[in-house]
Amino acid sequence: MGSGLLGQALHSQVDMHAAYGGVVPELASRDHVVRLVPLIRQALGQAGLEVGDLDALAYTAGPGLAGALLVGASVGAALAFALNIPAVPIHHLEGHLLSPLLSARAPSFPYVALLVSGGHTQLMRVDGLGRYTLLGETLDDAAGEAFDKTAKLLELGYPGGPALSRLADTGTAGRFKLPRPMIGSGDLDFSFAGLKTAVLTRVRGHALGEADKADLAAEFQQAVVDVLVAKCVSAVRASDTRSLVVAGGVGANRHLRRSLVDVAARQCFEVFFPEPEFCTDNGAMIAFAGACRLAQGRYVANANLEFAVHPRWDLHAMTI
Ligand code: KG4
Ligand code: ZN
Repeated sequence: MGSGLLGQALHSQVDMHAAYGGVVPELASRDHVVRLVPLIRQALGQAGLEVGDLDALAYTAGPGLAGALLVGASVGAALAFALNIPAVPIHHLEGHLLSPLLSARAPSFPYVALLVSGGHTQLMRVDGLGRYTLLGETLDDAAGEAFDKTAKLLELGYPGGPALSRLADTGTAGRFKLPRPMIGSGDLDFSFAGLKTAVLTRVRGHALGEADKADLAAEFQQAVVDVLVAKCVSAVRASDTRSLVVAGGVGANRHLRRSLVDVAARQCFEVFFPEPEFCTDNGAMIAFAGACRLAQGRYVANANLEFAVHPRWDLHAMTI
């Protein structure tokens, strides 16, 4: 059998949730039930494999919505049990942290990882599989959450991040002035809740035209990018590595990518991004983390059908 990514399939539930302006947990898990087996067939078909060719099966065990996790975990554990192969429960954030290693140009350990998703904003030092040191994190909203909430204020619909960033690319930063929260705090923590409130005070009571909205979006994006870039530079310096990797949905943001490439060239470190399709949630990164854990013998032998999901799960508290 070949090595590397042989096949992958993804179904986005964005259209289903868009009507409600956000994720509806019960709809999410019910749709998982419908989609999962056809997606597994599709990925296997792409790879030219049968289900019996699988050596192991990785699934996301947490953190996240309990219902959605349960669907993936029960299908994963049941299939592994039926095939008598190991089942490998994976931490969602570990999938993101290792996702840059899926690229042709991959970093080597150690590296600093900026993890920017809808639920997390963290800077980590990654020394190897399972060797993660938290350098700093958000004290309130995650960067993606700030994008989503601000997009809602600007009536851009769901999902907000990509829509806000598209609008920002048509506007000019600097006309509206927004703060750069904690940029000079001297540590590697973040805070994005105040930024969203600052946008709210500019939106409330004002009839903003399309051009105003675009300029406000551009300033918001610039503020988030300025803070993320400044903290990344400090983290790389403080951790004595020359590599930065960016993971998580906000890592798909083009302005953030350009800014980090520029600063890395000036400061002589290297920056690595997963392909945009591996920045947002995907199965390939979970399969990859599973393959790494399997190679190290760190899997759960599948002697029975027991499995557990962890809706709240600290990466550092991983016991598997
Ligand atoms: O990692 P991810 O797909 O899911 C979570 O685990 O949260 O990240 C989703 C987050 C959302 O908040 C979304 O708005 C944001 O990533 N996002 C973006 C962009 N694409 C996705 N934020 C800013 N610019 C983008 N281009
Ligand atoms: Zn994610």
